[in-house]
Amino acid sequence: MILPQDVRDKINLLFTGKKDLKLKSTREGLTNKYKSNSGSSVDLIENENESILYAISRMPATFAVIYKTINDLYLQGYIKNIESVIDAGSGTGAGFFALRELFPSLSSHFLEKNYNMIDTFNKICNEKIEVNQFDLIKNEITLRADLILSSYVLSELSENDRISVFKKLLSASNRYVLIIDTGTPETYTNFMKLKSIAIQNGFNIIAPCESDNCPLKNDYCQFYARVERSSLLKVAKSATLSYEDEKYFYLLLAKESVNFARKRVLRRPKIKKNEINLVLCTQNGIEQLKVTRNSQDEFKRAKKIKINEEF
Ligand SMILES: C[S@@+](CC[C@H](N)C(=O)[O-])C[C@H]1O[C@@H](n2cnc3c(N)ncnc32)[C@H](O)[C@@H]1O
Repeated sequence: MILPQDVRDKINLLFTGKKDLKLKSTREGLTNKYKSNSGSSVDLIENENESILYAISRMPATFAVIYKTINDLYLQGYIKNIESVIDAGSGTGAGFFALRELFPSLSSHFLEKNYNMIDTFNKICNEKIEVNQFDLIKNEITLRADLILSSYVLSELSENDRISVFKKLLSASNRYVLIIDTGTPETYTNFMKLKSIAIQNGFNIIAPCESDNCPLKNDYCQFYARVERSSLLKVAKSATLSYEDEKYFYLLLAKESVNFARKRVLRRPKIKKNEINLVLCTQNGIEQLKVTRNSQDEFKRAKKIKINEEF
């Protein structure tokens, strides 16, 4: 997955116009700030160079993750008939660019606190986009939409702010709330707490699984999106490989109830000559399934199945 050509062109133009933007040192500075200040509700992007750097080095991955998550959820039938979206903490527009590809006629609203992120979003976007300069912690969301999307925002907030902002996202939703963040144990733990809050507020968990209680103990699950590296991204990261795999975790919540009764492949399948061993996450807990050649159709399906797909 790669950012659309028009967005890459605009980012390249913006970068070449900024003679004082040093890719390596700005990226290192930003990475350090993210490592040491995440989870504290402080503004991590402090100037224009940093917001452009975010668009160059981080947005390709957040775009790929948002695109993959929503596309998969749509194809699986978990997200249906959405007409409007609020992107809460829209940054430099990753959510917009992903949704523009997937649902071009969606009515979209963008809430973002940081002026530099808004400015960079506007500069790299061909369309005229209106982003509300909006603090999710201080302000109440009065808008409503079918889908509330918030990607890579909640982990930047302190625990109290995260819970209070999350409740605002739930209240603003006509139907779905989709939260996405890095595929780390911290995100998983935070999201499990948010999952309970969503259930207390009348929401149902749609994906990645339906169960209210995750059967994983002392463990966590994560997903992957393959990100194609543009030339500029390679330079920014001093990387030679043409792709990177971005790990992430997400929750899709909905007001409507569901009963998909699915089984998701939790670990890489172990394939032997005559048997395939699958670890499945099901509504009733973790299931170890041995598929042998005797069950021909099931064996064929198991041979092709990949981690995180439904069996
Ligand atoms: C890591 S960026 C993610 C941007 C975008 N959603 C993406 O996926 O690429 C986090 C964004 O959340 C914004 N943010 C953090 N706290 C916020 C708040 N209290 N209100 C509004 N936006 C906030 C930041 O300014 C930043 O643009």
